[in-house]
Amino acid sequence: MKAKEGVLDILNGVLKAELTAVHQYLLHAALCKSWGYERLHDHYSHLANEEVQHSGGLIDHILYLEGTPDVEHLDTVGHGQSVEAIFRADMEFEREDAELLRKGIAHCAKVGDFTTRHILEHMIIDTEEHIDWFETRLKAISQVGLEQFLSEQIKK
Ligand SMILES: [Fe+2]
Ligand SMILES: [Fe+2]
Repeated sequence: MKAKEGVLDILNGVLKAELTAVHQYLLHAALCKSWGYERLHDHYSHLANEEVQHSGGLIDHILYLEGTPDVEHLDTVGHGQSVEAIFRADMEFEREDAELLRKGIAHCAKVGDFTTRHILEHMIIDTEEHIDWFETRLKAISQVGLEQFLSEQIKK
């Protein structure tokens, strides 16, 4: 099926963000493991997996619309030096992703592509959950203190 105007560019833009998220979360999972925070390692692995699923879904849909999935470009991957720093960077990244999805959804509604809109709407639900996870953890750190928070991340 042929894509409506601008839709393939939007899908490839979102794909770039999702692929970047896969790389970023794999790195952050490994960093948490190397720092001894098994519980955070597990959560980041779970996030990486969800981003792989988002990326795969986008690639399928781009092909369905007779486009070419761009898997060769990434945004800058964040390299945090501490748990708090990676949480903040990832929260920002997810917020930008949500903004990209919101713009995509609005464009799809305008050009009448309800299938793509549905796919992006499904992705924004996960993205908002990701934002919420980081917001909640950062709130917990400010309430119980970093040391206490980290001591609870050592065991699964
Ligand atoms: Fe995602
Ligand atoms: Fe995400």
